[in-house]
Amino acid sequence: MMDFKKESNITIFEHPLIKHKISMLRDKNTGTNEFRKLIEEIAMLEGFEALEDLPLEDVEIETPIEVCKAPMVAGRKLAIVPILRAGLGMVNGILALTPTAKVGHIGMYRDEDTHEPIEYYCKLPSPIEERLIVVTDPMLATGGSAVDAIDQIKKHGGKRIKFMCIIAAPEGLEKLHKAHPDVQIYVGNLDRELNANAYICPGLGDAGDRIFGTK
Ligand code: PRP
Ligand code: URA
Repeated sequence: MMDFKKESNITIFEHPLIKHKISMLRDKNTGTNEFRKLIEEIAMLEGFEALEDLPLEDVEIETPIEVCKAPMVAGRKLAIVPILRAGLGMVNGILALTPTAKVGHIGMYRDEDTHEPIEYYCKLPSPIEERLIVVTDPMLATGGSAVDAIDQIKKHGGKRIKFMCIIAAPEGLEKLHKAHPDVQIYVGNLDRELNANAYICPGLGDAGDRIFGTK
């Protein structure tokens, strides 16, 4: 297995607040409402770091003293692209930081038997070429969904892509990094391994079901 800490394109968060909130997510007694809030809060905390190189543009502002040019985030240059369904849970946390970002969607689900991702929807803001694209999905398990979603985004012309997840398995992180070494990957916590059903251990179970209250 790779030494992820040595890879400059992989960030594994060490912040105590992120760790604390992820532990709360794992608890099977955490209900849907709290689970959703935690996913959003973690996405905001991760987003703060992941967006450190957001483009700025100078805007004319009149202070009580004088008119000046002041830097503001060029939010229209950002696209948040959740992988449906669970990635949706992270969108509002990032939008709280950059309300003018556009939002695209990629629909993928894992076949329950083969664990292979199946794409069913793709709608991206245009033009996608010029935007910084932040792909969100709380779970990076085998990595199949993330690799395929980013393949699709690149086919549509996406160039500057970041991937943000909350929990990753080593297998999925390695697969995604090898398939898309140009993509900066942000991981809330690196878990131990996948089980025979390709669920992350210790993980948090099925993220989509826990966010949307389905089963
Ligand atoms: C989950 C999760 C990821 C995927 C990760 O989605 O949200 O998209 O599994 O697994 P992988 O890395 O092995 O591809 P799921 O297939 O359960 O679909 P859902 O979000 O619609 O529930
Ligand atoms: N998808 C999830 O929601 N959880 C896992 O542990 C693996 C894939």
